[in-house]
Amino acid sequence: MIIAIDGPAASGKGTLARRLAAQLGLRHLDTGLTYRAVGNALLQVGLPLDNEELAAVAASNIDLGALDPAILSAHEIGEAASRIAVMSPVREILVSAQRKFAEQPPGAVLDGRDIGTVVCPDADVKLFVTASPETRARRRHEEILSKNGDASYDNILSDIRRRDARDMGRSDSPLKPAPDAHLIDTTTMDIETAFRTALAFVEEAKTD
Ligand code: C5P
Repeated sequence: MIIAIDGPAASGKGTLARRLAAQLGLRHLDTGLTYRAVGNALLQVGLPLDNEELAAVAASNIDLGALDPAILSAHEIGEAASRIAVMSPVREILVSAQRKFAEQPPGAVLDGRDIGTVVCPDADVKLFVTASPETRARRRHEEILSKNGDASYDNILSDIRRRDARDMGRSDSPLKPAPDAHLIDTTTMDIETAFRTALAFVEEAKTD
């Protein structure tokens, strides 16, 4: 079974993907980490983020088994990821590695921006998870404050809007729901309700 989950930053798709994978005994890949790993590799050695050839070399060296969310979740790495994610040669390399991951038994839950549309167009279940930009910014802000971090809500909101515009506006694999995706708007939902809703779509697909 392959479950494709797409949506913008801080929509709740990552938490949902992890919980579904644990519940269903499937492997999980947060594909955002693969783009982040490429951005991080370039930042680490001070290479520019606007050179497709260098970014493609970095992409071909990414090891899916060595993606560390603790390191890769840093804000500036997310920004770098969304810049190299507009490059088709980078996407081709990462998408091919992500597909290989998805196809190994017993299947997997993948979350990202283009899973239902490009990476796994034949996925058994496709979910598109959204929430208003204000709600996503508030969640991100609360998460940072709960870890004793420092950030302004207004800056987070403008980052989220900029990232959305870049992800939805790029010509290669823009963020958009697959025609056959189930939409889950988590603006007024808690995670438990979102999880139950997602699980119901999976159960429905199993009985089809
Ligand atoms: O989901 P996350 O914020 O970790 O993703 C970082 C960036 O990687 C996104 O803003 C997006 O530009 C890119 N990305 C993508 N396709 C995916 C996953 C992430 O373009 N499947």
